[in-house]
Amino acid sequence: MPPSDTDKHRKTDHDVIIRATDVTVRFGSKTILDGLSLDVRRGEILGFVGASGTGKSVLLRTILGLNPKQGGKIEVFGVDYDRASDAERLTVEQRWGVLFQQGALFSSLTVLENIQVPMREYLDISPQLMEELARLKIDLVGLAPDAAEKYPSELSGGMIKRAALARALALDPDIVFLDEPTSGLDPIGAADFDELIMTLRDTLGLTVYMVTHDLDSLFMACDRIAVLGQKKVLVEGPLQTMLENDDPWVRSYFHGKRARTVVPKDENPHYAVKDSDGK
Ligand SMILES: Nc1ncnc2c1ncn2[C@@H]1O[C@H](COP(=O)(O)OP(=O)(O)OP(=O)(O)O)[C@@H](O)[C@H]1O
Ligand SMILES: [Mg+2]
Repeated sequence: MPPSDTDKHRKTDHDVIIRATDVTVRFGSKTILDGLSLDVRRGEILGFVGASGTGKSVLLRTILGLNPKQGGKIEVFGVDYDRASDAERLTVEQRWGVLFQQGALFSSLTVLENIQVPMREYLDISPQLMEELARLKIDLVGLAPDAAEKYPSELSGGMIKRAALARALALDPDIVFLDEPTSGLDPIGAADFDELIMTLRDTLGLTVYMVTHDLDSLFMACDRIAVLGQKKVLVEGPLQTMLENDDPWVRSYFHGKRARTVVPKDENPHYAVKDSDGK
């Protein structure tokens, strides 16, 4: 069979860390994702956007195998999760870390204990080593050492995000999934978090899959962006591809009033175009 247009534009397999092909997810009679395809490439920061309630978190949970799908295939590190043996799944699960949109940390555990949760589940190492590794993660994400003994209720929103990131990094994953990591942070805190993500990508060679509504993150941190719309990936590519796209939602998102404050004028081909309200 000749390759389809989508296949021709896909990178060679060794660059692709996650490949979703023709994924369909329904809840009862409601179809959330319909024939969605997406590649995530090794070492990139991929920003995943789309209107609220379109299925960004559902896709993330589906990739992680936490949500059943009705059609399609998802390969992570070349392993088709549906056909994988228990041992293969276990290996894959140790190579990813997740910062969920809700319930980032267990409230009854300290930061140190939270970070140790995945270690206890997957690693057979001594308690001393576990504690040492957990403290290293706390340092890695830029938290003060005394954050280790604190409970989530004693932390600020920004500290919770960092602690949750530390837990996502507990097993030294190849890829981290972040669902709205900067939501609720002030712009400076959000920019600091983006910097941290970029540093980790550069120093650890991490791949980052980031669901976000944060335009600053999309413009500053992401190498590529994928837009979810009409139950599939509508557009996928670097920022320039988004800026040149004519889909109405993509246009209003990337050329709306909020975007104009962050998109440099000379990068924005539609800059002179007025909003529908003429402003
Ligand atoms: N377990 C479930 N059972 C039934 N419906 C669900 C379930 N999980 C999600 N949905 C529905 O799927 C749709 C997509 O939800 P999802 O949480 O993925 O949106 P989202 O794009 O992440 O939105 P937001 O930007 O607000 O986080 C919503 O209509 C939601 O109600
Ligand atoms: Mg969501």
